[in-house]
Amino acid sequence: MTQDEMKKAVAQAAIEYVEAGTIVGVGTGSTANFFIDELAKIKHKIEGTVASSEASAERLRGHGIEVFDLNNVSEIAVYIDGADESNKFLHLVKGGGGALTREKIVAAASKKFVCIADETKLVDVMGKFPLPIEVIPMARSLVAREIIKQIGGEPVLREGFTTDNGNIILDVHNLEIMEPTKMEQTLNNITGVVTNGLFAMRPADVLLLGTAEGVKTIT
Ligand code: 5RP
Repeated sequence: MTQDEMKKAVAQAAIEYVEAGTIVGVGTGSTANFFIDELAKIKHKIEGTVASSEASAERLRGHGIEVFDLNNVSEIAVYIDGADESNKFLHLVKGGGGALTREKIVAAASKKFVCIADETKLVDVMGKFPLPIEVIPMARSLVAREIIKQIGGEPVLREGFTTDNGNIILDVHNLEIMEPTKMEQTLNNITGVVTNGLFAMRPADVLLLGTAEGVKTIT
């Protein structure tokens, strides 16, 4: 099974978590794109969606699926999104696509978070994938210095990239994330940081993992 076939399999499995008549939170990335294409097949059953990026909103609208502004929605039943890394506690590293802030907001607004990923994403210790940090542009150097001082690693500017919120991304290389919740809080407290890509304080509730043997459900 290829990586794309595993992504497609988990996207199909995630449809089981979509309840009729509800609003669905939709993530960003190639796995989320497979999910959007699956969601299109049952679009008449749902009330609509909230998207975690302009790119996903565009793909959803392209399928004729309604996209609501989060401010006009009182409850999101389930949020479906991919990840760059997950540990067995369903703490995640996200933001490879640069949508981490809106992803964290939609996850926070959702009753249930179902993460969909292929088996390459499940790791013992997170940090091999560079940790994305969204930063207010004028604070770039300050934040980079503080990251090195407070958590270590090597922050690298994501060249030529601006987030949907008009900010920059620093990708922090060479981390060993032994205490994800503590690191998430430490990074949140650095002035100039908008969001970091650790989803440990609000981890996923369910991980659907695509493997060669089929989709595994981890809770
Ligand atoms: C985007 C994300 C994605 O969920 C993450 O990068 C995984 O992407 P893919 O499904 O393409 O492997 O956090 O900001």
